[in-house]
Amino acid sequence: MNVYDASRMADVLAPLGYVSADEMTGADLVILNTCHIREKAAEKVYSELGRLKLEKDARKSSESPMRIAVGGCVAQAEGQEILRRAPYVDLVFGPQTYHRLALMLNEFESHGKPVVDTEFPADDKFDQLPDAGKVEGASAFLTVQEGCDKFCTFCVVPYTRGSEFSRPVDPVMREARLLVGKGAREISLLGQNVNAYHGINEQADGTQTEWTLGRLIRELAEIDGVERIRYTTSYPAEVDEDLIEAHRDVPELMPYLHLPVQSGADKVLKAMNRRHTSGDYKDIVARLRIAQPDLALSSDFIVGFPGESDADFEETMALVRDVEFVQAYSFKYSPRPGTPAADMTDQVPEHIKSLRLQKLQAELSRQQIAFNQSCIGRSLPVLFDRRGSRSGQLVGRSPYMQSVHVDLPDSYLGEMMTVKIDEAKPSSLTGVVVEKIDRVSQMLRQEAVT
Ligand code: 5AD
Ligand code: SF4
Repeated sequence: MNVYDASRMADVLAPLGYVSADEMTGADLVILNTCHIREKAAEKVYSELGRLKLEKDARKSSESPMRIAVGGCVAQAEGQEILRRAPYVDLVFGPQTYHRLALMLNEFESHGKPVVDTEFPADDKFDQLPDAGKVEGASAFLTVQEGCDKFCTFCVVPYTRGSEFSRPVDPVMREARLLVGKGAREISLLGQNVNAYHGINEQADGTQTEWTLGRLIRELAEIDGVERIRYTTSYPAEVDEDLIEAHRDVPELMPYLHLPVQSGADKVLKAMNRRHTSGDYKDIVARLRIAQPDLALSSDFIVGFPGESDADFEETMALVRDVEFVQAYSFKYSPRPGTPAADMTDQVPEHIKSLRLQKLQAELSRQQIAFNQSCIGRSLPVLFDRRGSRSGQLVGRSPYMQSVHVDLPDSYLGEMMTVKIDEAKPSSLTGVVVEKIDRVSQMLRQEAVT
């Protein structure tokens, strides 16, 4: 979502003449769009600010002084504290106020004093934002939902992003059409709790209905040019029948799902205030796999949550072995100020967290490698959305989200090609192009019909 927000910030600043710079040297304005989810991410902001200060000082008396802005969730959580620790920062704004960035800059230029704007304004940020600018590659993000009311006891998101909000259907559909018009073939729907989406759909006669995420996906798939749909991140207890059926019925919906479980131990899940047990999670996965047998799963895990015993951790290992993931993110529990778990007394020592993380990651990467190897010899549709690190190489995503590296000239950027996979690396695939895919949705639709 920070990537989406950053591109929208660029859209807000474009009318003022700002264009994105590839590096900070010479930039008029540097924005750190920050993450507060774990301590490490938050601390990075201050070390990065230290580096920016040197650059700013060096240009103090030059023709083009540098402005420094801190946006995102660290800014939201720390507000004025950022100015106390880094008084050379010019703007501080949260994830719900970046549509006012131009106003903040004006205010700063006219008074020369730092501006802090970390409110949760009542107006809809999305109504105030200009239309999305360019689409890089052929894959675009589209935020449909923001915020979280789940209050997992370890998590800062409900405090930094605010309560759950679903964008109405009309502007979402409009933005999707706009993105397709700008070259997007794949749309990734975003939300902290994206499957808690319940957007208002206003009909021509003025009556209002609510759309679920499943319904939204079905309708988006009907837009000419939308060939791939993804969504992230989902909350297990919000997976409903509509969404499961969308996985069964909508060929454009990619067979990949990031569904964080956090732990396999019911005792820990309860202390985390997750609204599911490990049994519930396995049931949801089973129902999804009946609907879409090809579904590849990803997840998030936290090890060393307060009170987690060795036996609890082994239950997480058992769940991982049982469910099988094609990839996953796993973290040591990081106490976040202001969250209930930070004050729990039975904190797990760091070295135990490290041992558990190692063990979990070894199993997760074994599963990831096994999945990647199972792709060797398969022909997979790949949408090339970025350049590789080597020249003459492009990178795209398989339906199951792996990066696929192929030797291809730049002119194929944005193309969808069938690629025969010939090599599996631990976290990516390589292959050769078999054929170009022009109208994938129609092909898939026909397949679905026949
Ligand atoms: N400590 C460790 N990991 C965390 N996450 C969220 N908060 C914390 C925390 N305090 C992880 C969760 C979440 C992912 C985005 O980050 O696994 O799903
Ligand atoms: Fe944080 Fe996700 Fe829990 Fe919400 S559901 S509090 S975003 S971990």
